[in-house]
Amino acid sequence: MKLKILVTAGDGIGPEVTREAVSVLEEVALLGGHTFELEARRIGGVAIVNDGTPLPADTLAAALDSDAVLLGAVGGNEFNSLPPDKRPESGLLKLRAALGGFANLRPAFAFKELAANSPLRPEIINGADILFVRELLGGLYFGQPREWNRTTNEAWNTMRYTRAEVARVARIAFLLASRRRNKLTSVDKANVLEVSQLWRSTVTEVAKEFPGVSLEHQYVDAMSMHLMNQPTSYDVVLTENLFGDILSDESAVITGSLGMLPSATIGGKVNLYEPVHGSAPDIAGKGLANPLGAILTGALILRHSGGMEAEAAAIEAAVRKVLEQGFRTPDLARTNPDGLTVLSTTEMSARVRETLKTMLVNA
Ligand code: NAD
Ligand code: IPM
Ligand code: MN
Repeated sequence: MKLKILVTAGDGIGPEVTREAVSVLEEVALLGGHTFELEARRIGGVAIVNDGTPLPADTLAAALDSDAVLLGAVGGNEFNSLPPDKRPESGLLKLRAALGGFANLRPAFAFKELAANSPLRPEIINGADILFVRELLGGLYFGQPREWNRTTNEAWNTMRYTRAEVARVARIAFLLASRRRNKLTSVDKANVLEVSQLWRSTVTEVAKEFPGVSLEHQYVDAMSMHLMNQPTSYDVVLTENLFGDILSDESAVITGSLGMLPSATIGGKVNLYEPVHGSAPDIAGKGLANPLGAILTGALILRHSGGMEAEAAAIEAAVRKVLEQGFRTPDLARTNPDGLTVLSTTEMSARVRETLKTMLVNA
């Protein structure tokens, strides 16, 4: 298998965790005789500093010319006073728009080994296995008009969707639900917002194409509570852009840490892969970052861009094994350090590679 992967590590812990995800992919290539052509480019704050723009033209061109893009994270406190279109985050949003992927898949899986790390009781989270499908190219993030008018002291953003934009992401969510447990929960705020009424009506219509999948609608406020009370009730959860951003971070409470969550964005010209977490300036450069979200994101590249299901599953199994053996990064050890071995970012990744090697060689 040959795959051309553009690596945009970005800022903060982005480079630290991306390096480890790449090292695991290289291990897979070595063991299986695959060729992954890896190229690195700048994005975000590091690109603002070096190139004067958060998305340099050569990064965009290389991204469009690859089979998959692996992104670390962007953003840093030194850029916080810039207007949205000058910030590191705008580089990521422009990249997302250019690559065209509109369905952001964010699996949230409760490893039972991490149950003690969640503030939720084990009996609440055990067995939770949710796939968020977050619409990624519409809503408040991209809707026009948007402005902060400093003369009138008003600011506005626009939450806008077309029926076609809702239908295309809904179809992907239903399709994925039909391959899982046949349940789809669509999240909106249709009791208040017209855009959510369009969302609900479109999703209800698309549901007719998937008679085997049961559909329920939830308001986003109630959903944020249900997720914590009964996470095992959900299979695929479909959301608009901002609601998905918020609920997927909330799901870190189920999985024990934000550092565990991977994502894949599909449906466009080139798939984009990024862990759910950000650049974590509070822990950057200290070897404290959990690389498992980035490593699991690497597994999603193999699954969704490489058609390498066995290798993707092997990475996921290696992560589980390492957790079973009691290895933890600090974010996964906070509530229950007894009997656990706390590792740095690079040590954790080395454990995963070692375990993967044993698995793939013995397979
Ligand atoms: P964050 O996700 O960076 O961090 C939130 C908290 O989770 C912090 O306490 C952090 O230390 C912890 N955390 C995150 N990832 C971790 C990991 N892998 N291992 C251990 N702990 C981890 O969110 P934030 O602090 O709100 O934002 C920081 C910056 O990141 C902002 O500039 C924001 O815009 C940006 N951001 C970028 C992305 C992205 O590039 N995809 C995503 C989210 C936030
Ligand atoms: C995420 C991030 C991004 C988003 C930011 C950095 C633009 O929070 O991927 O969850 O809001 O989509
Ligand atoms: Mn987010």
